[in-house]
Amino acid sequence: MTATARLRANDNAVGCDTVLPGIGSGALLRAANAGPARTVAVTSGKGGVGKSHVALYLAAGAASWGQRVLLIDADVGLASQDLLVRARPRHGLGQVVRGEVALEDAVVEVPGGLELLASPVGDPGLMGLSDGERRNLVDAVDGMAWRYDLVVIDTGAGVAGDALPLSAACDEVVVVTNPEPTALRDAYAVIKLLNQRWGEDRFSLAVNSVRDDLEGVSVHRRLSAVASRFLPVYVEYLGSLPKDDGLPAAVMRGEPLYLTAPRSPFAAAARGLATRLLQKERPARPRGAHHFLSRQRLGGAEQ
Ligand SMILES: Nc1ncnc2c1ncn2[C@@H]1O[C@H](COP(=O)(O)OP(=O)(O)OP(=O)(O)O)[C@@H](O)[C@H]1O
Ligand SMILES: [Mg+2]
Repeated sequence: MTATARLRANDNAVGCDTVLPGIGSGALLRAANAGPARTVAVTSGKGGVGKSHVALYLAAGAASWGQRVLLIDADVGLASQDLLVRARPRHGLGQVVRGEVALEDAVVEVPGGLELLASPVGDPGLMGLSDGERRNLVDAVDGMAWRYDLVVIDTGAGVAGDALPLSAACDEVVVVTNPEPTALRDAYAVIKLLNQRWGEDRFSLAVNSVRDDLEGVSVHRRLSAVASRFLPVYVEYLGSLPKDDGLPAAVMRGEPLYLTAPRSPFAAAARGLATRLLQKERPARPRGAHHFLSRQRLGGAEQ
């Protein structure tokens, strides 16, 4: 299917009848063939703030604009993307990086026009990777990156494990928080570590579970004020997502709201965030496929 056809099909799926403001379908076609995928990590300091939902709905929002999207569930031990969309992947990310399964054999199509590389129950994920296995991951993603416009990675929460190096290996980092002070403090900790250990200096902030967007703006203002006071970083506001009681119910059904209720508060807001993400200029840094998950970065601080 061409990018334009996909755009139309997905537009129908979500009830949209416009092209992406500022991009348009012609540019989308070009973008679809422009080179390796843009890689976006969705991460957080505190767990349970809605990272997996933000990653999934951002990915689906981008797919609804005709982007070829791969969502990677890299949340070691707590993977959930397969449950959110009721997919039954036979293989997972861990098997891919251990060279047991080809990436294309592990990827499954999920409703909404996107593809998922999951970490199903029993899959070791990225835990305890050897250097050779990290190389497999780089090779696998390098090989696939030209087939996608956007790769969204749902990382684990916190400052331990692979979440930070994974984030640092991507073109862009979306930090998810909710308005609670503990979540905000942990979001700041993630930003600080990514800056100090990997030199990241640009972040996008998504504020989840807000009463209204004013609350999101205020949370962003507080976090970015502290961050720019103490660190050489720029924290951009990607947007807010409302608290939506429909979301837990959708999880119970295994039917994401972007399919069943695309105009519901969370799904509509997430599509707005996806639109902003796609409209943002891609960082000028020479990243992309060859940079993605390079051994130096997964192994620790950049040399
Ligand atoms: N905006 C929202 N409105 C209502 N419920 C929400 C919202 N965002 C997330 N939730 C609920 O909060 C819970 C945690 O969400 P999610 O799994 O996306 O968080 P997470 O950050 O990925 O968690 P973890 O750190 O464990 O991976 C889920 O039960 C989800 O339904
Ligand atoms: Mg999660």
